[in-house]
Amino acid sequence: MEKYGESLFTLDRDEEIRLRLLAEVFDPLCTRTMDALGVAGDARCLEVGAGSGSVAQWLCGKATDGEVVATDLDLTLLDRVPEPRLRRLVHDVTTDPFPDGSFDVIHARLVLSHLPQREEVMRRMLRWLRPGGFVLIESFCWFPVESSPNDTYRKVMQRWSNLICGTLGTDSWWARSQPGSFLGYGYRDVGANTVTQNLRGGTPLADFWRLTVDMSREQLIAGGYVTPYELDEFYGLLRDDTFWDLAPALVQAWGHKQPAALG
Ligand SMILES: C[S@@+](CC[C@H](N)C(=O)[O-])C[C@H]1O[C@@H](n2cnc3c(N)ncnc32)[C@H](O)[C@@H]1O
Repeated sequence: MEKYGESLFTLDRDEEIRLRLLAEVFDPLCTRTMDALGVAGDARCLEVGAGSGSVAQWLCGKATDGEVVATDLDLTLLDRVPEPRLRRLVHDVTTDPFPDGSFDVIHARLVLSHLPQREEVMRRMLRWLRPGGFVLIESFCWFPVESSPNDTYRKVMQRWSNLICGTLGTDSWWARSQPGSFLGYGYRDVGANTVTQNLRGGTPLADFWRLTVDMSREQLIAGGYVTPYELDEFYGLLRDDTFWDLAPALVQAWGHKQPAALG
């Protein structure tokens, strides 16, 4: 399997625009859930695979007396975040360590679903948590696409998912059972929320998906997943403000580390 960023999602101008669109569309959902879970002023927070750093920046505004660490395989985008309190770290979540009990809050959006080692990573993150702390994982789930009545939208999105799964080891379905598996990893007080968004052509959500697919254009055509004609038709749909469908759903799942026993 390849790593994220090797041949797919290489860190160029398109990936930067794509991650900014991602933040624009999905940050409100993330921060609402974080607020409900509770980020204390003195919390020590870890943002895994932070990308453009928008969530890490938001955490800095919440944990004003705490600490925020943002990690990624490449810090090019994170280095542009104008936040002097943010600690940026090159760190591979599958192999690099943190001391046990380092964090009260750990968040990862659209990272673990791309990692074949996701189960081991969930166990590692539990060790990194302090008692009482929580992990919030956000992942896409593909079911709204699978049932689309539009042949082009359904086919291109599904074939793109096949390419990503075959190349990176992404699991577009893990999100579905993810909350249940938290208990098996040792988390307690587990919860989940799934958001299905209407996708209309020409909106930031549609632009995000159009760019996401377009970044793999060469591999999609060379591998025979779709034809150039189908791709152009797909781009046309996602630019057309009369086109409405459903985007892949976002599953938010969280779990806590058992608080230390009293006395
Ligand atoms: C789809 S992007 C999401 C970025 C950010 N989490 C967000 O939602 O805005 C996935 C991010 O995970 C990072 N990533 C992928 N594999 C990683 C790993 N093994 N360790 C740390 N970060 C990783 C990528 O470099 C990329 O920035």
